[in-house]
Amino acid sequence: MPDITTLILDDHAWFRRQFAALDELQARDSDPRELARLWEPLAARLDVHALAEEKIFYPQLLAHGEDPEDETLDAIGDHNEIRDGVAQAERSPVGSGQWWEGVWAARRANDEHMGEEENEGLANFRLNATTGLRESLGRQFAEFLDAHPTTAGLDNSDKDPEAYVDEVQAEIDPSDPTRDGLGIGSLKGK
Ligand SMILES: [Fe+2]
Ligand SMILES: [Fe+2]
Repeated sequence: MPDITTLILDDHAWFRRQFAALDELQARDSDPRELARLWEPLAARLDVHALAEEKIFYPQLLAHGEDPEDETLDAIGDHNEIRDGVAQAERSPVGSGQWWEGVWAARRANDEHMGEEENEGLANFRLNATTGLRESLGRQFAEFLDAHPTTAGLDNSDKDPEAYVDEVQAEIDPSDPTRDGLGIGSLKGK
């Protein structure tokens, strides 16, 4: 079982290839059905990938990484931008100007985010988490992706980055009096 940082990188590589394939469709003036056939699984995976990271990766980065807070706050904010771009595209007729705007908003936000995530959170986790933990999280990450080909049944709404970090930190050490104890346990089952 590959470790979670490898699985995340694999998804990132796939995202880059799918956006390149979208360029090819655009260059060939493909019809909306062809655009939708490529975009729908890409849009779903962008959202499910971010949710899987928020459920499985970032809580463990906060628990084991070195100074992980700022990286996590940035990542959740970036995930919100990606979600917003995907949502704009989903609201617009495929191939329309507004659809392309949403696709490009998601693409730009995702592109910037992947580079940061690779150089910050993923590198931090490799340096500070054990191989055994990374592999066991890899298994959970793969299972989550298999169980959720789309966001159906998942809460795909934007998250407040500060509240997310507070909730995770309260779970890591609920007795710490410096935490404000927001939503202890509420990350479970999301
Ligand atoms: Fe990612
Ligand atoms: Fe991410």
